[in-house]
Amino acid sequence: MITVITGATAGIGAAAAEEIARAGHDVVLIGRSRARLDSVAARIENLTGRRPDTHAADLASFTEVRTLAGELLDRYERIDVLANNAGVMTPKRETTADGHETMMQVNHLSGFLLTNLLRERLVASGGRVVTTSSRAAKSGRLDPTDLDRKARRWNGWLQYSDTKQANALFTVELARRGVTATCFHPGVIRTGFAAGTLLMKIYGLIPGYFKTPEQGASTLVRLATTSDGADHSGRYFSEQGVPSPVPEKMEDPALAAALWTASLAATGLPAETAV
Ligand SMILES: NC(=O)c1ccc[n+]([C@@H]2O[C@H](COP(=O)([O-])OP(=O)(O)OC[C@H]3O[C@@H](n4cnc5c(N)ncnc54)[C@H](OP(=O)(O)O)[C@@H]3O)[C@@H](O)[C@H]2O)c1
Repeated sequence: MITVITGATAGIGAAAAEEIARAGHDVVLIGRSRARLDSVAARIENLTGRRPDTHAADLASFTEVRTLAGELLDRYERIDVLANNAGVMTPKRETTADGHETMMQVNHLSGFLLTNLLRERLVASGGRVVTTSSRAAKSGRLDPTDLDRKARRWNGWLQYSDTKQANALFTVELARRGVTATCFHPGVIRTGFAAGTLLMKIYGLIPGYFKTPEQGASTLVRLATTSDGADHSGRYFSEQGVPSPVPEKMEDPALAAALWTASLAATGLPAETAV
């Protein structure tokens, strides 16, 4: 089984890669930093005796995502799992070289692009997509005509919530188009994520509130390695690891379809590439 994991250099993704490798999959680690990729690969090799492949790509660049997809398609005849896990929360507004708000590009648009570029291989492999969303999705107010919140108030958590809502809506639309896909909330996990923000500082004051990266990875591991990831396509899994009822705006088919169309345009994919 070939499992490709983005954001595999730290936190939830690194912990998930380790556990999925222990479960016998050949994990393929994706990250920005060659040094961090090598370090996680060495740890997994020590544990399993098999050194994972690594590919460096910055998901803030569509050019790098396209190069990555080409490398993956050249190298792997099958792809069983694509875990779109990489994500950031930037307290200050940032714009990528492609002209998008950074969180929207890294957290949603690049995963959308990568998935679409790999989708034929995934479908031919009977594969699945697992996306790391968040309970923050529930407070998202995503507007497909204003993905970057240029026309609306922007702050880090508002935009982050929109991107995580996009993860859930993308999952819904993938499933509707026949691609096996799930998403999940990992819990509040002590990682590099949103480090230094007031919210994380407040959470840190509550004893035992933060869970470990291994705990945060557990639902990803389950959705990647068990039938749950295939049997509940289109669903969002809560921290408790159960498919959960979610607010309509995370599942609304019309909103999911509008996001799909907007994402095709934003990533430069032609409409006919739609799954
Ligand atoms: N921690 C939480 O409480 C929590 C809660 C809900 C959801 N989540 C979600 O969980 C996922 C993983 O986050 P985490 O908590 O494990 O945080 P983390 O420790 O900061 O790890 C984030 C991962 O994403 C990668 N990444 C960030 N920007 C990237 C870019 N431009 N290109 C390529 N890779 C990039 C990072 O790579 P580098 O090593 O290069 O930085 C790292 O591997 C995210 O999608 C996040 O939204 C986290």
